[in-house]
Amino acid sequence: MTLAALNSPVGLNESQLSIVGRQRLEGELHVNGAKNSALVLMAASVLSCDSIRLRNMPDLTDIGTMAKILISLGVGFHLEGSSAVLRSDGLTRHDPSYDLTRKLRASFFLIGPLLARHGVAKVPLPGGCRIGSRPVREHNKGLQAMGVRISIEGGVVSAEVQGNHGRLQGCSIDLDCPSVGATETLMMAATLAEGETVLRNAAQEPEVVDLAGLLKAMGARIHGAGSSTIRISGVRKLHGADYAVIPDRIEAATFLIAAAATRSRLHVTPMEPNHLNAVLAKLEEVGCSVNPQGQGITVTTPGQLRGCDLRTQPFPGFPTDLQAPFMALLTTVQGTSFVTETIFENRLQHVAELQRMGAQIRTCGNVAILEGVPMLSGVAVTGTDLRAAAAMVIAGLAADGVTHVAGLEHLDRGYARLEERLQAVGARISRIGATRPALLAA
Ligand code: EPZ
Repeated sequence: MTLAALNSPVGLNESQLSIVGRQRLEGELHVNGAKNSALVLMAASVLSCDSIRLRNMPDLTDIGTMAKILISLGVGFHLEGSSAVLRSDGLTRHDPSYDLTRKLRASFFLIGPLLARHGVAKVPLPGGCRIGSRPVREHNKGLQAMGVRISIEGGVVSAEVQGNHGRLQGCSIDLDCPSVGATETLMMAATLAEGETVLRNAAQEPEVVDLAGLLKAMGARIHGAGSSTIRISGVRKLHGADYAVIPDRIEAATFLIAAAATRSRLHVTPMEPNHLNAVLAKLEEVGCSVNPQGQGITVTTPGQLRGCDLRTQPFPGFPTDLQAPFMALLTTVQGTSFVTETIFENRLQHVAELQRMGAQIRTCGNVAILEGVPMLSGVAVTGTDLRAAAAMVIAGLAADGVTHVAGLEHLDRGYARLEERLQAVGARISRIGATRPALLAA
């Protein structure tokens, strides 16, 4: 037990990060594979009986949870370095258990592949979380249009294809909102449906395009992924594939924002600039310079930064997952900034934690109004969800004094060994208490 742990304001059995702030970062940060792509690519592997190799997999607790869910259904899963190999010829079940699915919203996306493979699925509702109610109406409405009877009892969605010899029926679907998960669920289901499916008002996120890339590598016929209209012509069977996950744009931007918050110069690689145009534009608007270099981006930050107005939007707009991290940066820039969260109804909980560090923030509904202060002060704070936890780390890196960040069970879901990677570019950050669980912790 270290001395720091004995002085820690957080429960001794709870791990936390201890950060000594006002330390400039320098060097290069490597970006891992995208969590929000890898999870859905794992679900897509159920669509084929052949082996699916996914390269560039991130080492995250969410990936471990998805692997456990798939293994419980009879899917073969093993790791080979940073590749995951999955095989669903032994898929025997179609009813993932609640004690696993409750940890992972993405597990609900399995309902599409399970219906496409077996014509039946029983998947617990993902339930709400801290950032919002997170309904799955669009997923269910689209599946019903494809011939699925859906009943919801005891928090479980029971779904079964009606008629058509148990095969989904292609159709035209207009989404009420460009839901990422609904687009992905319905696109997967449509790959093995009879006839053509047209998804309108589809999500355009890079992770949707990545999923279409894997599905096409498996033999699916998909056009328009990345636009608001996606056409899928169903086929009888999908074969194996060997596919690399795209870099995690949210992780990459988190690093760029941390560099700006500590007034540093940092190279972040690899990343696709066109996956982050809205974020790069905001970094330039506050006064940073961002330059493509090799496979990544170099951000250079002057001493003084200025405020900006920020409004989260579906892709290609500013991503909701970066609202909290970017707000941590805006707390110490000159002037007033307005941050509007339009995607989730309750994604401003990090405001209270930032206020405890001395940030000047007022909220009115889903709008936060920030007045920049010269410096935050390090205190004990808690990350209330994955991206809020990342925001607290950024605030701690910039603050005067020592910041203790709790809520690492959220952070470890989306950022692998964050403290080790930040240490390597000069941050004075360490983990106190239990170490991060291994990918497939028992
Ligand atoms: C995905 O969640 C991501 N998760 C989220 O990342 C991300 O914040 C979100 O997309 C938006 O970009 C994964 O990909 C695993 P949505 P998803 O369905 O698919 C409403 C992170 O931190 N909606 O696009 O669940 C919903 O309530 C996580 O990595 C309906 O109203 O998001 C929300 O307000 C957090 N009805 C909005 O749409 C529906 O049927 C966006 O939700 C479905 C969604």
